[in-house]
Amino acid sequence: KKAEAWSALFSEPMSELVKRYTASVFFDKRLWLADITGSLAHAEMLAAQGIIGAGDLADIQRGMAQIRSEIEAGSFEWKLDLEDVHLNIEARLTQLVGDAGKRLHTGRSRNDQVATDVRLWLRDEIDLISDLLKELQIALVDVAEQNVEVILPGFTHLQVAQPVSFAHHLLAYVEMFARDAERMADVRRRTNRLPLGSAALAGTTYPLDRERVAKTLGMVDENGSPVVCQNSLDGVSDRDFAIEFTAAASLCMVHVSRFSEELILWMSQNFGFVKIADRFTTGSSIMPQKKNPDVPELARGKTGRVVGHLMGLITLMKGQPLAYNKDNQEDKEPLFDTVDTLKDTLRIFAEMVGGQLNPATGAKEGGITVNAAAMEAAANKGYATATDLADYLVKKGLPFRDAHETVAHAVKAATSHNCDLSELPLTVLQGFHPDIGKDVFDVLSLRGSLNARNTLGGTAPAQVTAQIVRHRTRLG
Ligand code: ARG
Repeated sequence: KKAEAWSALFSEPMSELVKRYTASVFFDKRLWLADITGSLAHAEMLAAQGIIGAGDLADIQRGMAQIRSEIEAGSFEWKLDLEDVHLNIEARLTQLVGDAGKRLHTGRSRNDQVATDVRLWLRDEIDLISDLLKELQIALVDVAEQNVEVILPGFTHLQVAQPVSFAHHLLAYVEMFARDAERMADVRRRTNRLPLGSAALAGTTYPLDRERVAKTLGMVDENGSPVVCQNSLDGVSDRDFAIEFTAAASLCMVHVSRFSEELILWMSQNFGFVKIADRFTTGSSIMPQKKNPDVPELARGKTGRVVGHLMGLITLMKGQPLAYNKDNQEDKEPLFDTVDTLKDTLRIFAEMVGGQLNPATGAKEGGITVNAAAMEAAANKGYATATDLADYLVKKGLPFRDAHETVAHAVKAATSHNCDLSELPLTVLQGFHPDIGKDVFDVLSLRGSLNARNTLGGTAPAQVTAQIVRHRTRLG
């Protein structure tokens, strides 16, 4: 009995266990559209080069259109016996159009085919991710704009440090997500290159026009010139782009995770700084009072999963000799799961932060709720303006180190009176330094402290407003 998919060479069929072990169709079938798109571009070029006939091309196009509608309708029969998405589609094509289907694979190998498919698929996913990153940034800027004057304690070591504007705090995340978007754009450039034409590993004997295929598939640079992998061995075996993408996705998830950690803290009763809409929280099966921040917690957890995929992919490559090895089939599940996890996370965060568009009013509703009073009360604990008092004394002529020491004494005194620096009477403050005048109380106020940090990148409302304008322009 002849083995199913291969050739006369095999003396026995594949064992069922091996079939299941080596098949990828149940996860790589999501590449179907990229596979058809790549095949059509290849076939078109084969016809243009006179390698297949015009009639063959027409048959292939007709067959692929039929397959496309079958897959979209859910009636396409995926077969484990046919191992992967590529062989499933090719077999169906041949069933539909006969010999033309058998001619499609001329000058091609599954090795350059799969590398092309993954790149095409990932390129389009990167575009969706870039849109989602933009949406999340806009949501953060929207909330920031409403909260320029809202003050919360900035922390270092999670100890109260200096007052900052809540908008400034949110815009820190906008910076991170803007860098993530830059990284995605950069990864896209190296993803959008054509391996097809590398064939199995060494190139092919047919006069292929690889640049034509690259153009058809939109694998072009900024100037519209086709970008083709220049070494056939590298073309079939390079998965750097998938690793780079997963690294960029990991960093992005790390940013989401840090934000999640803050949301979780801020939502705890001991902070009470923000609320997220009920639809992003869950209750407890035993404690009736609970509203738990499951979404940020899960996002923090899923960050570990994506970072795990990065480790998986990078380890997958480390021992592979050139060129293609079946190991590469293991690139798909981590890559697919990274894309799914990142997209879902960004989508949910954009809505959780910024709210949902109400079509009736045209406004967004149900984003995070800010408790400005709780933030301000927290900023009034922990001597957040102590640095301001030191800076005040420096302006009176003290060297900074002496001012620092003087204020440490004042903080010690305030602590023993269980009050804020601004609540110490002027005469007591003057006991620490005679040059302290009535104007010190402006300096000791949260708002005075904020306004004073008016250098580029600082938390003063004027600076924060300028940043909001910059982001709005950048985000269009
Ligand atoms: N399913 C395979 C993969 O994902 C396609 C390429 C198989 N090539 C081969 N020579 N076995 O890598």
